[in-house]
Amino acid sequence: MTQPITLTVSLGERSYPIHIAEGILANADKYLRLDRRVLIVTDSGVPREYASTVASLAKSPTLVTVKEGEGSKSFASLEMLCKTMLEAGFTRGDCVVAVGGGIVGDLAGFAASVFMRGIDFYNIPTTLLSQVDSSIGGKVAVNLDRIKNAVGAFYQPRAVLIDPEVLKTLPDRQISAGLAEALKMSATFDASLFALFERGDARAHLKEIIVESLKIKRDVVEKDEKESALRRVLNFGHTVGHGIESLLGVAEENGMRENGGLYHGECVALGMLPMCAEGVKARLLPILRSLSLPTEISVDASLVARAMTHDKKAGDGFVTVILVDEVGSYREEKMSFAALEERVKECFS
Ligand SMILES: NC(=O)c1ccc[n+]([C@@H]2O[C@H](COP(=O)([O-])OP(=O)(O)OC[C@H]3O[C@@H](n4cnc5c(N)ncnc54)[C@H](O)[C@@H]3O)[C@@H](O)[C@H]2O)c1
Repeated sequence: MTQPITLTVSLGERSYPIHIAEGILANADKYLRLDRRVLIVTDSGVPREYASTVASLAKSPTLVTVKEGEGSKSFASLEMLCKTMLEAGFTRGDCVVAVGGGIVGDLAGFAASVFMRGIDFYNIPTTLLSQVDSSIGGKVAVNLDRIKNAVGAFYQPRAVLIDPEVLKTLPDRQISAGLAEALKMSATFDASLFALFERGDARAHLKEIIVESLKIKRDVVEKDEKESALRRVLNFGHTVGHGIESLLGVAEENGMRENGGLYHGECVALGMLPMCAEGVKARLLPILRSLSLPTEISVDASLVARAMTHDKKAGDGFVTVILVDEVGSYREEKMSFAALEERVKECFS
């Protein structure tokens, strides 16, 4: 195992460490209290060996594998996990470990937050998106009807272990989708991380990108744990991105693949473009192309704009959006739907 880099998320009594090291998965018991009943949650797309390694290090493990995909972030899965813990005799002193991407983390974390009114939760994220973003910050949730993350909580993990080695089995397109979230953070907060992306060899610097992205997210979460203000900046690219997702979600109902074949990170990549000043967009486009991320949409831009206004964050004909006029900085603006539609149409038509 390499020497770990440790970051601390400082939130008073809810503070926790993030340990980042190649090979840390096989040493999980040195960083997590696994000498008790441990529910290990993974999904069918995560190579089996990751969760079984953690199980082999736990005193009393119960390993549950849910089906891969957004459908597992459901009340049915939540109930199944809680029932499994009850049947295995879990008490408030036991714990849950997520071994997987954002889906497993959101589901397992939510189960830990409600079981016996909250038991210890550890996260071992295995996708790049979850390593740079979703594994810290404490947002856990399941979906309800067609609304993503409709029911959830803020529930911080006790510790997060990040092993960049597991990314070797992650498909290249998933790596790009994770890089889109890191790029989003650099565009709003860190011009030097953005410059790293501009060098064109991001894939050779994944560990550095993970650490620098986590520092950005950590700083934001420490200042605004429950997303009352600053944390909303992390939604840069998401207003339009969600519009694309929900529009393509309708296409999915008509027989197309999930999100019309686009991953969340890919929708965020597209969603950043209309929200940037021309100079920033001119720098962003070659990066997106170098990462094989999409820069154009194949659907009618006005339909995207309309789908956006159905987003749950939209209120009274206006929506607060994050704009980037200069790399490494941002501003918030309350924008009318009409102005937003115009921007999207101009960008993609
Ligand atoms: N809680 C938060 O703050 C937050 C932030 C952003 C996104 N999210 C949520 O995260 C979810 C998306 O997460 P994701 O992008 O990690 O997707 P995911 O969890 O679906 O993982 C993507 C795919 O990769 C597979 N996989 C995972 N690790 C692997 C590995 N090492 N090797 C090979 N395959 C592997 C999975 O089985 C899955 O098929 C969404 O539900 C989204 O709402 C949460």
